[in-house]
Amino acid sequence: MPKTVITYGTYDLLHIGHINLLQRARALGDRLIVALSTDEFNSNMKNKRCIQPYEERKIILESLMFVDLVIPEENWEQKVDDVRKYNVDVFVIGDDWAGKFDFLKNACEVVYLPRTKGISTTERKLEIVRRAE
Ligand code: CTP
Repeated sequence: MPKTVITYGTYDLLHIGHINLLQRARALGDRLIVALSTDEFNSNMKNKRCIQPYEERKIILESLMFVDLVIPEENWEQKVDDVRKYNVDVFVIGDDWAGKFDFLKNACEVVYLPRTKGISTTERKLEIVRRAE
């Protein structure tokens, strides 16, 4: 049976930290699903206003060789259902979320990967503003 890995996130202004995370996630199995936060979920629940709309972020992720499927992340509660629906073996996310999703351990393996240091979408946005000044 192929091993399925899932990860969740916004992936706005795709950067090297995202790539490192996705590559390591894919290496934990045979297929990688990215549950991509919708624009509504980002603005209503995560207080994030994306530069790139959902459809654009989705197309970019789908074009990566180590991403097999992109599905929408629309709420905090869908993870258990996703794990069942897609026969997920491993849930992966960066260690900024360490411990937050341990409840999924009943359903699959849970892995928190170290973040890449010194880069984030927020930092990128701030840097663009600084440079425009
Ligand atoms: N990530 C990472 N290393 C970074 C930035 C992000 O490993 N330097 C990981 C996160 O831990 C998460 C995934 O990439 O598992 C998607 O993160 P996301 O929140 O979309 O990216 P950030 O750059 O952290 O965005 P923001 O600044 O808006 O929080």
